[in-house]
Amino acid sequence: MNIIVAKNAGFCFGVRRAVEAVYKQLERPGKVYTYGPIIHNPQVVEELKAKGVVIAEDLEHIEEGTIIIRSHGVPPHVYRLMKDKGLQVVDVTCPYVKRVHNLVSKYHSKGYQIVIVGEKEHPEVMGINGWCDNSAFVINDPEQVESLPHMAKACVVAQTTTSHQKWDAIVERLHSKVDQLEVFNTICNTTAVRQAEAEAIAKMVDVMLVIGGKNSSNTRKLYSICKAHCKKTFAIETAKDIEVNAIDPGDKVGITAGASTPDWIIKEVIDMVSQLNDEKTGSTLNGQRQDD
Ligand code: F3S
Repeated sequence: MNIIVAKNAGFCFGVRRAVEAVYKQLERPGKVYTYGPIIHNPQVVEELKAKGVVIAEDLEHIEEGTIIIRSHGVPPHVYRLMKDKGLQVVDVTCPYVKRVHNLVSKYHSKGYQIVIVGEKEHPEVMGINGWCDNSAFVINDPEQVESLPHMAKACVVAQTTTSHQKWDAIVERLHSKVDQLEVFNTICNTTAVRQAEAEAIAKMVDVMLVIGGKNSSNTRKLYSICKAHCKKTFAIETAKDIEVNAIDPGDKVGITAGASTPDWIIKEVIDMVSQLNDEKTGSTLNGQRQDD
């Protein structure tokens, strides 16, 4: 059995930075809150909860302590509210997302209509939209461009995890709707690189394991990319989810992981597959010996 592990598996730079900030904050005295779950990974979130981190879905009942803004970022009114409450704020908005906030704020104040390519209900998009007073058109499908009004000037940005394909198709159509269109491709390359590598591996292997939280959209996307090239693709959250019987001796196994999967879970999966390999190879050898 041959195991190929993607080099770009697991935490991206922005998520690693955010998670490390929470652990660092736990070493200091005082109550620690995260504004929403720090990442879309139940195992990490549970571990942090056990260490005392409280997930705040809103700020209503929080009067003191430290609150951590996750990599998705937040709209400006949330910063104001945190400040008004006198909370200590640790802002680990990913710098790539912060760049989108700054662009949106700048072009909105210059009178441009903002268009965001992304999922309307995603916290990152809701955060970005706040930087233009929630006035953006949010488009997630090229067809939706047709329903937009004609615009004299507009600025288009992307949710960082948007696919290049979707972005290109939407921007192309937008040109016919806008006289003066400012285009900022704010897609994070981490996602594209991870997806391209996963696709390349899926084409070479018999079994593909995609590790990540069930509610992580980038993990689901990775799964569908891999599934298109490798029939035996499995989405798993931890090593316990591996379908042992689906892996045959001699299979080539590929492993990738979404941006919110910690290193220790990836390692557990690699160890489990290696162990499986030893066991299955061992049983084959035993069988051969008996036949002899
Ligand atoms: Fe940031 Fe890109 Fe990760 S935008 S949070 S480094 S996927």
